[in-house]
Amino acid sequence: MYPLIRNRRLRSSKAIRSLVRETIISPSDFLVPLFVVEGKGIKEEIPSMPNYYRLSLDNLTKEVKELWKMGLRSVLLFVKVPDNLKDNQGSEALNENGLMQLAIKTVKNACPEMLVMTDVALDPYSSYGHDGIVADGQILNDESVEVLAEMSVSHAQAGADFVAPSDMMDGRILSIREALEDEGYLNTGIMAYSAKYASAFYGPFRDALDSAPVDIKNVPKDKNTYQMDYANRFEAIRETQMDIDEGADIVMVKPGLCYLDIVREIKNEVDVPVAVYQVSGEYAMVKAAAEKGWLDHDAVMMEQLTAIKRAGANIIASYFAKDAVKLLG
Ligand code: PBG
Repeated sequence: MYPLIRNRRLRSSKAIRSLVRETIISPSDFLVPLFVVEGKGIKEEIPSMPNYYRLSLDNLTKEVKELWKMGLRSVLLFVKVPDNLKDNQGSEALNENGLMQLAIKTVKNACPEMLVMTDVALDPYSSYGHDGIVADGQILNDESVEVLAEMSVSHAQAGADFVAPSDMMDGRILSIREALEDEGYLNTGIMAYSAKYASAFYGPFRDALDSAPVDIKNVPKDKNTYQMDYANRFEAIRETQMDIDEGADIVMVKPGLCYLDIVREIKNEVDVPVAVYQVSGEYAMVKAAAEKGWLDHDAVMMEQLTAIKRAGANIIASYFAKDAVKLLG
């Protein structure tokens, strides 16, 4: 009780503040998302994601070597697929010489110890921009899950350490786990996007991969029939628990900042590592405000990343990974 207790004592100098600080960000917290494109010598900036790029395989090699030097040890791969290779079934996703499969090998060649995770969902491959197969205005569940399981095996075959299904179909973790077991990939991990919300914060990502749902008749214009309603909390726990029961090694909450209540709740409920994805729209907002001189970029970035970790994230997927690590020195 005051005056016996004065809380400000523990805040009175930089040294004491650092001594009692509860949450410390370090390079090993991060999973670095990378966007890969076909071609050579390509490093194109994504307009809605300043200072973030689509890379061709040669530049992917350079990038992962740089990440490794900085102490960043895990990447999450996404590919931008040319329109002429897209169809409703996402067939290109299973091409063993497809861009994702080549990207996995490229990272492993450049940096054998880098942990490689891959996005598993149909949207970059889908002519309709959906995470599953579309029929009669619906996104088919079980048919899509079959492709996702085959896709996961194909990534494992190419050398992926972890597959990261981001589609939100029911039962996909079990099917993927069984497919990996059947094919002998006993050590391939699954990081499940377990509580993935139907969020407007994914806009810049869909620009990056040209993967937004297309606006044509009889195709749903949003992902609300599979991604979660952002008003819901109990459902997030149910989704997460089911993914763990089905064989997920790591579970994820996505997006980050608006969902830290969910992160904490899941962290309290489960005993597997919890990942948080600070998504493209969160990145874009900070960059845009900083460009205008309205926010201090580095300060806001570190505050947000620390808040994500404090909420319970063991792993942070973030486009700020390099910026943050540079700042840590
Ligand atoms: C695709 C996928 C998305 C993101 C990761 N995987 C977009 C979506 O679901 O539409 C979003 C990542 C981001 O916004 O940074 N299944």
